[in-house]
Amino acid sequence: MKNDNEENNMSQFEKNTVDAAQIQALYRVHYFNASAVFEAPEDHAYYFKTFIGPHQISVERGDCVYFLTTDTAFLKRGPCQIDSQHCATIVRGFMPAERSCSLAGLPVLPYVNGCSTKQLFAPPRPGDPTLQYLQIPPHSAEQAHHIHSTTRVVYTLSGKGTSIVGMEGLTVKEDLTPGKVCILEPMCPHHFETPYGEPLVVVPLHVFSATSGVETMHPMFNGTYLMNQGN
Ligand SMILES: [Fe+2]
Repeated sequence: MKNDNEENNMSQFEKNTVDAAQIQALYRVHYFNASAVFEAPEDHAYYFKTFIGPHQISVERGDCVYFLTTDTAFLKRGPCQIDSQHCATIVRGFMPAERSCSLAGLPVLPYVNGCSTKQLFAPPRPGDPTLQYLQIPPHSAEQAHHIHSTTRVVYTLSGKGTSIVGMEGLTVKEDLTPGKVCILEPMCPHHFETPYGEPLVVVPLHVFSATSGVETMHPMFNGTYLMNQGN
């Protein structure tokens, strides 16, 4: 019979044998530097399809597409055809008014840990998809390790930083550089850091967003009283 220390050592040994790709698969994060297409997995509640790199994209009626040029963000309704060079994401069943927004200019909203943000395309109604702009200053971290209830498609606009994904003892780091796309599936534990002495600017698309204050109003959350982990 193993004692607690042996159990913990075994557990740590097993963790050390898991490679980066396995950790990324376990927590469901995906990184893309070259041309690729990523579609919402079968078990997702909301359908999206992301095109990284140059693609000719057909968007059907009833859907919309978010995409970026070097200096502007666009939201277009289907039916339409677009010629995307960097990153485009179709969101199914959402077709708000078309819009565009310059990517120039400083953020206007303070955020945590010295970060700042602006809403490129605010959600028209609570819970709708939204395109955000996030600037992380050098030597900071984008808040504490956290999760989101819906997918984030994160385009790296400028600077350099690191994405950290996983849980204690089982984390994986990936550098974020301009043009790189990070797709975080729902509930993927993560945060971004800027250890390289330069700021990082990312443009995250929330494939449907949070309705502030409402997502924790449910019996599981309200009937739970936190305590130290039982170890
Ligand atoms: Fe996040």
